[in-house]
Amino acid sequence: MAWQLDAAPWTSADADWLIIGIPESCDLSGPIANLDTALGGQLTRLKEAGDLTGKLSELVPLRGVQGLDKVSRILIVGLGKPEQQTEAGLHKAFVTAVRQISSKEKQRVAVAIPQVANLTPETAVQVIAAATQIGGQGQDLYRTERQRYPLSNVQLLIQPSDNLNLLKDAAAAGIIIGEAVNLTRELVNQPPSVIFPISFAARAEKVAQDCGLKCEIFDENWLKKERMNAFLAVSQGSVQPPRMVVLEYNNAPADAPVLTLVGKGVTFDSGGLSLKPTDGMLTMKCDMAGAATVLGTMQAIARLKLPIHIRGMMGLTENMPSGSAFKLGDVMHARNGVTIENQNTDAEGRLVLADVLSYAVDCGTDGLIDLATLTGACVVALGEEVVGAFSNHQGWCDQLLAASKRSGEDTWQMPMWDHFNELNKSEVADIRNTGGRWGGAITAAKFLEKFVGGRPWVHLDIAGPAFASSNKPYREGGGTGVMVKTLVELARGFARP
Ligand code: BES
Ligand code: MN
Ligand code: ZN
Repeated sequence: MAWQLDAAPWTSADADWLIIGIPESCDLSGPIANLDTALGGQLTRLKEAGDLTGKLSELVPLRGVQGLDKVSRILIVGLGKPEQQTEAGLHKAFVTAVRQISSKEKQRVAVAIPQVANLTPETAVQVIAAATQIGGQGQDLYRTERQRYPLSNVQLLIQPSDNLNLLKDAAAAGIIIGEAVNLTRELVNQPPSVIFPISFAARAEKVAQDCGLKCEIFDENWLKKERMNAFLAVSQGSVQPPRMVVLEYNNAPADAPVLTLVGKGVTFDSGGLSLKPTDGMLTMKCDMAGAATVLGTMQAIARLKLPIHIRGMMGLTENMPSGSAFKLGDVMHARNGVTIENQNTDAEGRLVLADVLSYAVDCGTDGLIDLATLTGACVVALGEEVVGAFSNHQGWCDQLLAASKRSGEDTWQMPMWDHFNELNKSEVADIRNTGGRWGGAITAAKFLEKFVGGRPWVHLDIAGPAFASSNKPYREGGGTGVMVKTLVELARGFARP
């Protein structure tokens, strides 16, 4: 998709559609007034007739409009009340608008950047630029007749008083972030027989080459040498061999702190011998969303050339039942020496993460984040739209929560009291991989804590928000790319401690 940013009057837009945002006050002053005049007062008449309210994400499409030289279609999108005009609100409004248009192929769109009281023009431009990408990608990868197409061109219109260079950078960043979110979404949406450990690793290598990341791919023999026996146990039931991918990007002074992202990459979770029923298994191609989020974020950070040192690690495996699958009662010796009794082969994510986290710690890290579609219990606790955060370090967790707040991605911290460790106790080994019926998201996090060597760490359980069960006007169903924006924002903060 091509894009430009111009400090030109809205009336000069040249496109198939001009998108404008209107607040719920329906205040038609400033640049909107000039447009209204050019349209012979059409906006005022719509407002007076009650057909234009500015409610958040309300769409009013106007076709065959007269008065503009190069535009005959205008899409008005509501920006809502002042308190709704946040990053999240603007994202919702503009993804809704773009989705309305992107059902047709090759659309050229002009977007009038609104002045929003709570946000800087840079933030507004970045969010809207990202939305033009995100709203143009669907999950219908294999439909003969698609319902969603990328826009062919986007023209962003800013005010002459705005800082042109600053906003060009913001737009470029927004496009990069939107493309990263879409990469994560696409990987999650691909079928499990297309994205398996080897093909995921190949895709990561391609991304790394294209954006200048160092990429190492480790196979099952290396995992054996590293004694990653918990990770290997999960993979042993599958005909697909496991892989671990380590991406590294260093654009910082030698003594700079190291940020590490770790992602759960179970490319298909059947549950293993503790087989899931069909309903539960149906969406389990999404169980590599953590790893896909790490890859998308690494791509964005490299393309943004952030002045930081970061590693991204992905533990890639299938979880399958077979004659060679790991069994209930098996005891695994994890990479860091902890022994784990397997009580449920469907609690596989924590086994993969245990060994990758201990490797991340040994590589040296000053801030550790893991992302995983880890527990159904987290979805029960927080619903499908909220990320669960679990941490051993309040300062580090606060940084993550602040970044998620600025990015408009709802994240909620969960407790990590010591008494939850009781639930992970085993009669035969140091710990077991299930904590029983209650507090399942927390006991999973307490399990992971045994593998982070006391380093500042936040675990993000994205089991709910990583994959959406249905289409909504403001969001395509399937992979969502949740947390890419938050992690890029966190990384920006990491660059200026
Ligand atoms: N991948 C699942 C968790 C999941 C559930 C992700 C729903 C997305 C949507 C995970 O591996 C799993 O099966 N967890 C079990 C753990 C239990 C056996 C202790 C669960 O949540 O039931
Ligand atoms: Mn599972
Ligand atoms: Zn899983």
